[in-house]
Amino acid sequence: ADQINEQGHLTIGGVDSLTLAQEYGTPLVVYDVGQIRKQIRSFKQVFEKYHQPYEVSYASKAFATVAMYQLIASEGIHCDVVSGGELVTALKAGFPMAKVSFHGNNKSYEELTLAVKSGVGTIIVDNFYEIQLLDQVLKEQAAQAQILLRISPGISAHTNEYIQTGQVDSKFGFDLASGQADQALKQCLANPRLQVLGLHAHIGSQIFDVRGFEGASRKLVEVAKHWKDAFAFDCQVLNVGGGFGIKYTSQDTPLAPAEFVKAIIKTVKSSCQANGLAIPEIWIEPGRSIVGPAGYNLYTVGSRKDLPGYEPFVAVDGGMGDNIRPALYRAEYEVVLANDPRKAASESVRIVGKYCESGDILAWHQQLPHLVPGQVLAMLDTGAYGYSMASNYNRNPRPAVVFVENGHAQLVVKRESWEDLTSLDLPYDQNKQ
Ligand code: LLP
Repeated sequence: ADQINEQGHLTIGGVDSLTLAQEYGTPLVVYDVGQIRKQIRSFKQVFEKYHQPYEVSYASKAFATVAMYQLIASEGIHCDVVSGGELVTALKAGFPMAKVSFHGNNKSYEELTLAVKSGVGTIIVDNFYEIQLLDQVLKEQAAQAQILLRISPGISAHTNEYIQTGQVDSKFGFDLASGQADQALKQCLANPRLQVLGLHAHIGSQIFDVRGFEGASRKLVEVAKHWKDAFAFDCQVLNVGGGFGIKYTSQDTPLAPAEFVKAIIKTVKSSCQANGLAIPEIWIEPGRSIVGPAGYNLYTVGSRKDLPGYEPFVAVDGGMGDNIRPALYRAEYEVVLANDPRKAASESVRIVGKYCESGDILAWHQQLPHLVPGQVLAMLDTGAYGYSMASNYNRNPRPAVVFVENGHAQLVVKRESWEDLTSLDLPYDQNKQ
């Protein structure tokens, strides 16, 4: 999907990446907005093709800024938030609160109060403590809430394998086998302030294989059937979470995101038919697959260290502060030379950051032309969990973020300044001690 212009430079959303680096500085996070819209639409199209009532809810933890919530709103889809901070960002963006779902395994009193006061559409209830706390908040606010009950489906899927019953020991959701999920439903059905819409399960992230989703879908229908028989409860919504994998390197072979959805729809439909259940709405919560492939991190090359017999270190002006995924998960990415992505490689190097840690590596074994200071590198597919997990480690400012669409660029998050870094600090008056 990466384009190259007449000068042979990498372009993003129709804009020369070198122009972006020059205009906004590096390290820089750039999103190709057209790619984001395209992915959202392809999710919607599958549901529409199968005449399946649905909601696509963007898992905003993948990348959450005012501009991003506005973009999501313009596509008419829902989003989910997992903290008061994401919620206030969505509010600030004018995101329609009825289309927001609120997740989390330890939502605070303040967060639940804000959610109820601002009219959040759905609260995904995770545990017994939350049922009580939410009840208290609803009493105080004289309000009601629509909820889904999150269950741990006993299925965990990681990258390309999946293990049934693997994740019973999860911190998220109500356990099925022990009867906790039944007990939770009973409590909620007995509470006039709570309207239970259905069930939620999320089995993991960066999943390549469809079997985990099929297993989870069947499990959810099984629970819905049991709840109908045992409690005369009609499940209107099955939310199967997110986790659709993307291609970071040539080794990754995920299905197209829409193919996962197709398999989920088919499984839910056939399981419901087999169980004599009406087909519920299907909700999905993709994060990575919506923003990951649309994001690029631009860096400028600085120093390098060459030692005979070892893979050279080439240092750039960012690192683990703007993308911790390689250091944290040993995640792999592809890096290209922005001014000539097609230039023949002449060496294999490690791209490292400027942070004071040996683990501050952005990419291993990158086949690139000989790199010299001042060149701009583009790291591809950085749009998910990059900026959103950024930190100020070593007191480095977080990068700026730019949205590009139809050949126009717009700054949507300012670069943090050195001044910003001390804006919350207070002096320590030792005479007072
Ligand atoms: N729904 C729920 C309930 C989730 O917990 C998550 C992700 C998603 C949806 C979205 O999953 P996605 O489509 O983005 O895979 N920091 C890690 C990923 C953590 C994912 C947490 N939950 C990373 O950088 O790989």
